[in-house]
Amino acid sequence: MQIILFGAPGVGKGTQAKILSQKYNIKHISTGDILRESVARKTDLGIAAKEVMDSGDLVSDDLMGGLVKETLANMDYKAGFILDGFPRTLEQCNLMDGIFEELDIEKPFFILLKADTEVIVNRLTKRRLCSKCQTIVNLNDIADLNTCPNCNANDSFIERKDDKEEVIRKRLRIYREATLPVLDYYQEKYKVAILNGTDSVEMVTSNIEKVLTGND
Ligand code: AP5
Ligand code: MG
Repeated sequence: MQIILFGAPGVGKGTQAKILSQKYNIKHISTGDILRESVARKTDLGIAAKEVMDSGDLVSDDLMGGLVKETLANMDYKAGFILDGFPRTLEQCNLMDGIFEELDIEKPFFILLKADTEVIVNRLTKRRLCSKCQTIVNLNDIADLNTCPNCNANDSFIERKDDKEEVIRKRLRIYREATLPVLDYYQEKYKVAILNGTDSVEMVTSNIEKVLTGND
C-alpha cells in the first residue's frame, strides 16, 4: 500500500501517518522529520537545510528529490509506505514520477487533508513533540502539560523552531502558492480523496481507512 498524505502545515499529516504506519506496519517517510534529524546530526544536508527550514521556506527541489530517492531505494518499498511532505512543488511531482517509474512503484493513494487557516495556526502554536518518543501532542488536548501521554517521560516536550506564528503564516502562504498546484497536477492523474482534517483524530483515521479499503 502506497499512500501520499497531502495537505497544509498542521493539518494532521504526521499524526495520521504515525497511526497508519503502526497499524499497517508500513514505513512513514516524513521529509520534514528526515530533514530535522539531519539538522540534529549536523550532516551536510542538515547544515544546508537548517536556516531554510527555520525561516519557513522550502528546501531546494534537487536536495529533496535526492533525499526521497535515496530513502526509497534503501528500504523495502514494495512492502508499502506513507509519504508525508513530498511532493511539495510541481518540479517535485516530476521528480517523484521519475522515481516511481524507475523503482516500479505502483500508483499511490493520494489523500488530501483540509483545515481552515485559523484552526491550523491555533494547532501549530500549541504543538509540542516528545523528544524521547517523537509523539506529537497538542497543549489544548493533554491534561498534564509536563508528561508525555505515550511514554510518560517528564519535561520532554520540545517546540519546533518553525512553529512561531509569523513563520506558520509564511509556511501557509508558501503552501498556497507553491504546493497547492501539486493537487491540480494529481487530480488530473489520480483519484484524489479529500477529507476533513478538523474531525477528531480517530474520525480522520477511520475516513482514511475507508478510502484505503474502497468503502468511501
Ligand atoms: P514538515 O515537517 O513536513 O512540516 P509541514 O508540512 O509544515 O507540516 P507539519 O509537520 O507542520 O504538520 P502536520 O500536517 O504533520 O501536522 P501534525 O500531525 O504535526 O516540513 C517542515 C519543513 O521542512 C518545511 O517548511 C520545509 O522547510 C522542509 N521540507 C519538508 N519537506 C519538504 C519538501 N518536500 N520540499 C521542500 N522543503 C521541505 O499536527 C499538528 C498539530 O495538530 C499537533 O499538535 C496535533 O496534535 C494536532 N492535530 C492533528 N490532528 C488533529 C485533529 N484531527 N484534531 C485536533 N488536533 C489535531
Ligand atoms: Mg508533520
